[in-house]
Amino acid sequence: PQPDLRRHFQRTIERDQRIEPRDWLPEEYRKTMIRMIAQHAHSEIIGMQPEGNWITRAPSLRRKAILLAKVQDEAGHGLYLYSAAETLGADRAELTEKLISGKQKYSSIFNYPTLTFADVGVIGWLVDGAAICNQVPLCRSSYGPYARAMIRICKEESFHQRQGFELLLTMMRGTPRQRDMVQDAVDRWWWPSLMMFGPPDAESPHTEQSMAWKIKRHTNDELRQRFVDMTVPQAEVLGVSLPDPELKWNAERGHYDFGEIDWSEFKQVVSGNGPCNAQRVAHRRAAHTDGAWVREAAAAHAAKRAEASAA
Ligand code: 3HC
Repeated sequence: PQPDLRRHFQRTIERDQRIEPRDWLPEEYRKTMIRMIAQHAHSEIIGMQPEGNWITRAPSLRRKAILLAKVQDEAGHGLYLYSAAETLGADRAELTEKLISGKQKYSSIFNYPTLTFADVGVIGWLVDGAAICNQVPLCRSSYGPYARAMIRICKEESFHQRQGFELLLTMMRGTPRQRDMVQDAVDRWWWPSLMMFGPPDAESPHTEQSMAWKIKRHTNDELRQRFVDMTVPQAEVLGVSLPDPELKWNAERGHYDFGEIDWSEFKQVVSGNGPCNAQRVAHRRAAHTDGAWVREAAAAHAAKRAEASAA
């Protein structure tokens, strides 16, 4: 039956239809979907740390309430995505172990420090803006549960991006000191935001297969270019400059040309030697250890309930 099942899988992909948990799928497809969904979930959970750092120090109640809502959204995105990974037979506890032990990755972008409150605005504007560029196409990903999770997550990401842009617009209309804070944050987050889209296509081991299986709908470089084209006009509205002297409109291409990304920095951060990697993983490990009693209590309660209903 394998050839028929494989043919059915291939036809479903070719017809732009969804692969569902009950369908037969190649082991390689399962593995790459678990890898991608789990690392996306890890990114959401770790991503709560840089922003959470400013919740107690937000400059107003309104900013605190917005930031609180955003960080709670990220937690929800993480849990949503771990559930999507479970539909492929992954075990959530195992995925957490892999994150904590460094066997699975999370997005490089969260290994940079948030030094001032302007970073909260720049993360919303640039990091969530990049996430939207990367995730909107994933709403059409061939694996059903992942695509459906993306639809809801993208709606919340657009709130994240809007609140970040509005925060920066407010600061840019403030004092010279506030304007300097915004420019300083943009200078620090611009290049790491471009690295979020992954290595250049020519050095991406997964892109070709992920495109063939319609998991990815665009390549890393295509989405990176789309993000640059979308963001440059927004920077002009904000009145900030982007830290790339080679950034300029290329009428022939119909896109912005931009400078070379420092791929050695990217490799350093992805391999665990970024500014905050050790701190981020240690924090996650501590949260997991401190939370053990909650997991044990919930399991004991569930066992008691099961006993009572079996009696
Ligand atoms: N940070 C860390 N690792 C990265 C990376 C990054 N920015 N970009 C690529 N990598 C890793 C890949 O995971 C892969 O390693 P692995 O084999 O151990 O998984 C290796 O580098 C090669 O990269 P590829 O481009 O070949 O890998 P992919 O085809 O998986 O593409 C990706 C990478 C574009 C990130 C893709 O996995 C993807 O689109 N993932 C779903 C979206 C996602 O995870 N976004 C995270 C952004 S953070 C976020 O969304 C939170 C929001 O609130 C801001």
